Amino acid sequence: MTDFEEYLRKHLPSAPSFHPIFDEALGAMLVAGGKRFRPGLLLAVVEAYAPLLLQSAYPVAMAVEMLHTYSLIHDDLPVMDDADLRRGEPTLHERYDEVTAVLVGDALNTHAFYLIADAPLHSDVKVALVKELAYSGGIGGMVLGQAIDCHFEGEKLTPKQVDFLHEYKTGRLIAASLKMGAIVAGLDEKAQQKLFDFGLDLGLLFQIQDDIIDATQSSEDAGKTTGNDEDKNSYINHFGLQGSRDRADALAVKIEKQMDRFDTPLRAKLEPILEGYLNRHKIEK
Ligand code: IPE
Ligand code: IPE
Ligand code: MG
Ligand code: MG
Ligand code: MG
Repeated sequence: MTDFEEYLRKHLPSAPSFHPIFDEALGAMLVAGGKRFRPGLLLAVVEAYAPLLLQSAYPVAMAVEMLHTYSLIHDDLPVMDDADLRRGEPTLHERYDEVTAVLVGDALNTHAFYLIADAPLHSDVKVALVKELAYSGGIGGMVLGQAIDCHFEGEKLTPKQVDFLHEYKTGRLIAASLKMGAIVAGLDEKAQQKLFDFGLDLGLLFQIQDDIIDATQSSEDAGKTTGNDEDKNSYINHFGLQGSRDRADALAVKIEKQMDRFDTPLRAKLEPILEGYLNRHKIEK
């Protein structure tokens, strides 16, 4: 991951003009850091099955991180979650202004697809990657999830709807990251789907843990505004803290079982990334 981090910092988007702050704002949230969970998953699959393509996959991994970063910038806006801290820094609308935050988000979204189009990969592969990211990061995933999340603030959904919301808002982009790794590596559709399905479980686990972070960590420790889910259909609000931990543990066990059936190289690449997530609450069995 350190090589990818270096790549990302070397290839930050730039929009030079006479605008006094836009260019600086464009890269600010990318350089602020973050766990790089989604690019890490994508690159793990590429490394496991087609290590020679790793460098060529960097722009694709960066595209996923850019789309994710745009989703965070918009998520923090006053009309959405109204948060003032992200990745340990003031959110873009706090540091600059709302117009800049909206437009930087727009730019990171569109530029993600530019990066894929420009990657040194076969055109067919790039079309498949664009299709996956556009759908799972859009109406087949993140955007629809965010729409439901915001629309139903203060209104209790059914447990089934809660799972739908979180699968869309978070699970599908995480699932897509694994699948995009499989697309770059040239795996067949069945293998792509298997990784996508695994990613849905992983994504749900990730979001339950994110909801637990909101309820249990200070903003300072989390590096982002927490205690912010009061009116949300979060797992905590539906199942309580212990109930959420139990759900996370059950999912972690399921994910580990699935991992046991993975090819050794894939397991070896995924394990270090997933370790913290799978063990965080797990009760000794
Ligand atoms: C936060 O994502 C938003 C969710 C989808 C839960 P991350 O927890 O991956 O945020 P960064 O990228 O590390 O900042
Ligand atoms: C946002 O979920 C998920 C996105 C698609 C951005 P949250 O609103 O729970 O994310 P945080 O807690 O602000 O990072
Ligand atoms: Mg939100
Ligand atoms: Mg939020
Ligand atoms: Mg959250």
